[in-house]
Amino acid sequence: MLANLIGWIDERFPATKLWKEHLSEYYVPKNFNFWYFFGSLALLVLVLQIVTGIFLTMHYKPDTNLAFASVEYIMRDVEWGWLIRYLHSTGASAFFVVIYLHMFRGLMYGSYKQPRELVWIFGMLIYLALMAEAFMGYLLPWGQMSYWGAQVIISLFGAIPFIGEQLSLWLRGDFVIADATLNRFFAFHVIAVPLVLIGLIVAHIIALHEVGSNNPDGIEIKNYKDKRGIPIDGIPFHPYYTVKDIMGMIVFLFIFSSILFYIPEFGGWFLEHDNFIPADPFKTPEHIAPVWYFTPFYAILRAIPSMAGSAFPGVIAMGLSILFLFLIPWLDRSPIKSIRYRGIYFRIALVSFIISFLTLGFLGTQPVTGLYTLLAQICSTIYFAFFILMPFYTKIDNDKPVPKRVTFK
Ligand code: HEM
Repeated sequence: MLANLIGWIDERFPATKLWKEHLSEYYVPKNFNFWYFFGSLALLVLVLQIVTGIFLTMHYKPDTNLAFASVEYIMRDVEWGWLIRYLHSTGASAFFVVIYLHMFRGLMYGSYKQPRELVWIFGMLIYLALMAEAFMGYLLPWGQMSYWGAQVIISLFGAIPFIGEQLSLWLRGDFVIADATLNRFFAFHVIAVPLVLIGLIVAHIIALHEVGSNNPDGIEIKNYKDKRGIPIDGIPFHPYYTVKDIMGMIVFLFIFSSILFYIPEFGGWFLEHDNFIPADPFKTPEHIAPVWYFTPFYAILRAIPSMAGSAFPGVIAMGLSILFLFLIPWLDRSPIKSIRYRGIYFRIALVSFIISFLTLGFLGTQPVTGLYTLLAQICSTIYFAFFILMPFYTKIDNDKPVPKRVTFK
């Protein structure tokens, strides 16, 4: 009966064909390691955010007079509301942890290089959409940090010459962050951006399956096929990696639930302390800082001195810091993908880049002092040098010979 049902469906919809193409006959390098868990984990967190988001929307009120209280109501009175809210707020930070590790893997193994440039570009667009999604979501609880964080970020658009003032007015829908802003952010957060995100993720995976996955050795497994045309170093995604990924998901859920149940706000890093005070347009918090996943870029913004009282140079630097990530497939001139066979220059460059990114992330959470500003300027210089000098150091690097077959123990 089941075979008949599948046959009936297959005559009308390519179910078996899709299953084979993307799972049971999709050949993946057999040497995937720890770093290859994060793509499927990102999918898991995405589903978690959508499901918990739907339940939150059932009780949340996008109205400046009601929003804060509606979140408190979810936390205290809605059955299991605290769990749904914390799953969503802790989930947002978990999403960025997973995505940053996923991106780091790409940098380490050269997964952005030919022929995976589009996989990377779609990934970067996802990253942008994710930042927009998190930024708009953070306004919704209408706490002090929601309000003032949005105020700082939107007023940055005001620094753009000629059109800036009009642009920030248009974005807010009012002269200050107000009900109009909250309503539109809600609309974007619950439907517009998630739709874009899902579309981009589908494109990301289609592009990946077109060229096939890279691996820790950076070898194209499609270059060595057996008589049947199957890559010698490949194994079917299903069941081998579905099983492995489920194991990764279970370990992830252990760590995630430990945080969720014991320190869901992570000492003010995932939900800032000031956000438990209702938004007050007449009282600026002593220290405004975005959530940790934005702070590297915030630190770059603050590190660049303003020009004639305008923050425009900092805004440009912040924009460039993301733009360079888009360009990396063309800035890297080495024929070698994986860090395993790269020369010393790339290794030093990548390590310095990661250290400066993490330091910037810390500095962005701290109040401005002379020493911290100097440190942020040094780290921003290293951050940009990683990209600007990349065409040179990757060209002259003393790369090592790459084996023909993947290494696998
Ligand atoms: C919601 C966000 C994302 C989801 C659900 C997602 C999903 C996936 C999945 C399932 C894979 C295949 C499994 C793996 O290699 O781990 C993958 C691969 C990849 N992703 Fe993502 N991704 C996301 C965001 C990003 C971002 C932000 C970037 C980089 C800017 C990126 C770059 C890549 C690259 C380069 C690969 C190929 C890696 C390789 O073959 O070595 N992804 N992604």
